Amino acid sequence: MILTDKKEYEGRIERVLISKEEIDAKLREYGAVIDRDYAGKPLLLISILKGAFIFLGDLSRNITIPHEIGFMAAQSYFEGTSSSGQVNITLDIAQDISAYHVLIVEDIIDTGRTLKVIHGMLADRNPLSLKVITLLDKPERRKVEFNADYTLFTIPDHFVIGYGLDCGEYYRNLPYIAEYKE
Ligand code: IMP
Ligand code: MG
Repeated sequence: MILTDKKEYEGRIERVLISKEEIDAKLREYGAVIDRDYAGKPLLLISILKGAFIFLGDLSRNITIPHEIGFMAAQSYFEGTSSSGQVNITLDIAQDISAYHVLIVEDIIDTGRTLKVIHGMLADRNPLSLKVITLLDKPERRKVEFNADYTLFTIPDHFVIGYGLDCGEYYRNLPYIAEYKE
């Protein structure tokens, strides 16, 4: 679906769930946690595109210890707000991760399927350690067992948009996280 009408676009933003200020405060908090937990260690942040691109950018700028970044891409939601139940890896990192402590940076854990697949793939490549940081967690929707090591916000079962998260590829640019009007 292609959207061009600004009124229609704005009309689908139901309400702000997490403000920019709340996100910024959590970023500072978790930047400091990562600084402490990974001090002196070779750190590689691997972001899952597209949803985590803004979170990765802001998290990285809140971390003050040396670190590298990499990108992978997975598709699980193909259109709108319904999950396909299947996970496709559409972009993989090229580098050898065996010399790194890897931290997967994800936007949201919903059914848990995406992270289960990506975590398994990366674990097979023997990084020094492998952990997950997620911006959002919707535990009520879990279909496969998966828990992040660091969770910034736990939210109820409602489809959300903004701060990297989309509905039909729109709304990623919103500076806050909002509920989407279904
Ligand atoms: P999972 O594999 O079901 O855990 O889904 C993870 C992916 O689905 C996330 O990385 C998002 O891209 C997408 N997703 C899940 N819930 C939402 C939501 O509320 N808004 C936008 N995207 C979502
Ligand atoms: Mg995602």
